Amino acid sequence: MTAPYAAAIVGFGKMAQGYAEDPAMARHFPYATHAQVLRDHPGFDWRAVVDPSVDALAAARDGWNVPHVGTDADALGPTREKIEVAVLATGPDARLGLLDQFPRLKAVIVEKPLGRTADDAHAFLAECRERGIMVQVNLWRRADERFRELAEGRLASLLGEVQAATCYYGNGLTNNGTHMIDFVRMLLGEVSDWHLSGANAGFIEGPIAGDSNPHFLLQMASGVEVAFQPLRFGHYRECGLTLWGTDGKLDILLEGLGISFFPKAAHRAMSGESEIAVDRPAPIDATCGQALYRMYDNLADCLDCGDEAGLWSDAKSAMKTTAIVDAIRMADAARG
Ligand SMILES: NC(=O)c1ccc[n+]([C@@H]2O[C@H](COP(=O)([O-])OP(=O)(O)OC[C@H]3O[C@@H](n4cnc5c(N)ncnc54)[C@H](O)[C@@H]3O)[C@@H](O)[C@H]2O)c1
Repeated sequence: MTAPYAAAIVGFGKMAQGYAEDPAMARHFPYATHAQVLRDHPGFDWRAVVDPSVDALAAARDGWNVPHVGTDADALGPTREKIEVAVLATGPDARLGLLDQFPRLKAVIVEKPLGRTADDAHAFLAECRERGIMVQVNLWRRADERFRELAEGRLASLLGEVQAATCYYGNGLTNNGTHMIDFVRMLLGEVSDWHLSGANAGFIEGPIAGDSNPHFLLQMASGVEVAFQPLRFGHYRECGLTLWGTDGKLDILLEGLGISFFPKAAHRAMSGESEIAVDRPAPIDATCGQALYRMYDNLADCLDCGDEAGLWSDAKSAMKTTAIVDAIRMADAARG
């Protein structure tokens, strides 16, 4: 590995550091936040935090011992010129213009969604392209060890051919819908078409103002159709996926922490038929807790060898997901 990359976090809220205080999350996610990764990762030298909130800056300085903090990048003094990697963990409407603050940037890790709209996302990525900045988008499932194994062949060996799929999400299409559409693309390949579905227009809910939660179908190029079903997180949270294959069934539930395989077996009540043994799950170890750390591993490796093509969650892929989300969002808005 080359010298550690000087890093700054821009936007020091929940995803940047706040979730580290949640004891329940800590049991499953040693790396729930960017701050935890930057504190520990030898490939990065965490130099600075920028956030307009003085409370956030106090947390960075006193809680995380960050040497340079400021309400804007100018307040960082000469450190601003040294930052090579910026972690952009603001909300999606505050991303444009952030890159201008750091003249020597080589890479960003940017939170999803890339923008409020596909146009915003395009504009942000154009800025990155013009300056030759590598972009890793924190669609963390793409860095998860177990999910990568599934995408790279284990899914097919467990399930055979996928014949039916249902995806559950909530707290907003632009918010968690982005994660789950991207996850479906990761596991099942590209989307060839989509349709709104459902008897009603879903509901408005989530941290992004006005974000809707429509029912919709993704038609995959492979021919599989994935039904997206929104859940109200006021009752309970879930971002999950259930896949019925020709040889078994896979549930990826509990937002990725609960992975269960159900094998095909002789049918218990009909001679000569088969069933999926839904009462005999074989659990598969989840690895989500390390996914964010591995996102940074992958970025450091790509920076070391100047190989943008090696990024696991690159701009081009994230833009495909963004374009699908945006098209569904607009169709849902037009439906009223
Ligand atoms: N990848 C994931 O799994 C995941 C999980 C949660 C949130 N997120 C994403 O992370 C982003 C942040 O979400 P959050 O829940 O941490 O939000 P948050 O509101 O807790 O934090 C955002 C922070 O950005 C700061 N900020 C606003 N404008 C700024 C600017 N111009 N410059 C610097 N700082 C600025 C705010 O003061 C705040 O501290 C969102 O895009 C969200 O969708 C991703």
